[in-house]
Amino acid sequence: MPLYKPSNTNAHVTTQFSLKGKVAAVTGGVRGIGLAASRALAEAGATVAILYSSTKDAPEIAQQLSQETGVTVKAYKASVENRGEISSVLDAIASEFGSLDIVVANAGIASHYPAEEYTEEQWRRIMDVNLDGAFWTAQAAGNIFKKQGRGNLIFTASVSAILVNVPQKQAAYNASKAAVVQLARCLSVEWVEFARVNCVSPGFIATDMLSVHPQEWRDKWFGMIPANRLCDPAELKGAYVFLASDASTYMTGANLVIDGGYTLP
Ligand SMILES: NC(=O)c1ccc[n+]([C@@H]2O[C@H](COP(=O)([O-])OP(=O)(O)OC[C@H]3O[C@@H](n4cnc5c(N)ncnc54)[C@H](OP(=O)(O)O)[C@@H]3O)[C@@H](O)[C@H]2O)c1
Repeated sequence: MPLYKPSNTNAHVTTQFSLKGKVAAVTGGVRGIGLAASRALAEAGATVAILYSSTKDAPEIAQQLSQETGVTVKAYKASVENRGEISSVLDAIASEFGSLDIVVANAGIASHYPAEEYTEEQWRRIMDVNLDGAFWTAQAAGNIFKKQGRGNLIFTASVSAILVNVPQKQAAYNASKAAVVQLARCLSVEWVEFARVNCVSPGFIATDMLSVHPQEWRDKWFGMIPANRLCDPAELKGAYVFLASDASTYMTGANLVIDGGYTLP
């Protein structure tokens, strides 16, 4: 079977971007980039399940998003590194809403250690969440998409997949994100008959993940970003809607780099 093609490829472009009638799930959907992606999908009309692992006020965040966007937004607890948990939560979302059309595998963590000093636990934690967690999310989504005959998977990778950040030392994070980009490419080919699979690779985005770093690092980064500023998570909203929607039906296996020019010089 060829890659899905809409019956009317000539539909008005604003119609192509609409997600009305779609059901989406976003891991790490209650904070930072995931929250911006969740808001974007909801604003485009999708019903959105926001997944979290430790955020205490996730149900309240979902309720507020629902009020602000006028669509159903509901919070679900699942740790992505737990294969059984993420699979049963995505299955439950699909059966509660009748389908699951879009999954954003966004949950991720960062840590910084000199490569020669990683303990097994520190190395494994990054891989468990960023790589294994992304794969368990993808596998659960892929099984649902295969049954439905159609679905759309988007990973949040990183520019760290294609460059080596300085001054911080983060070999595990960078390796995990490079693996996610290659995973997306593999799945886009394996699943071409029933799913599109793409990555968003953000540069420096102003979320909790960055706010913990010393000012000295941040000053150094600014000097390396042609845009000369951090990106607001909301500036990524359009990218997630684009990839999730019929505005990108021939796009699969791509890695959309959004970095204010950071990877160019
Ligand atoms: N910020 C950047 O500059 C940047 C740049 C490139 C890529 N990224 C990537 O973008 C993604 C989102 O990062 P962010 O900047 O938005 O960071 P963030 O604000 O720290 O959010 C991370 C999210 O991941 C979730 N999460 C963490 N561990 C989890 C686990 N074991 N199971 C399920 N969910 C888990 C968190 O949920 P809970 O709080 O509920 O645990 C949280 O919602 C990550 O994959 C990150 O690597 C970020």
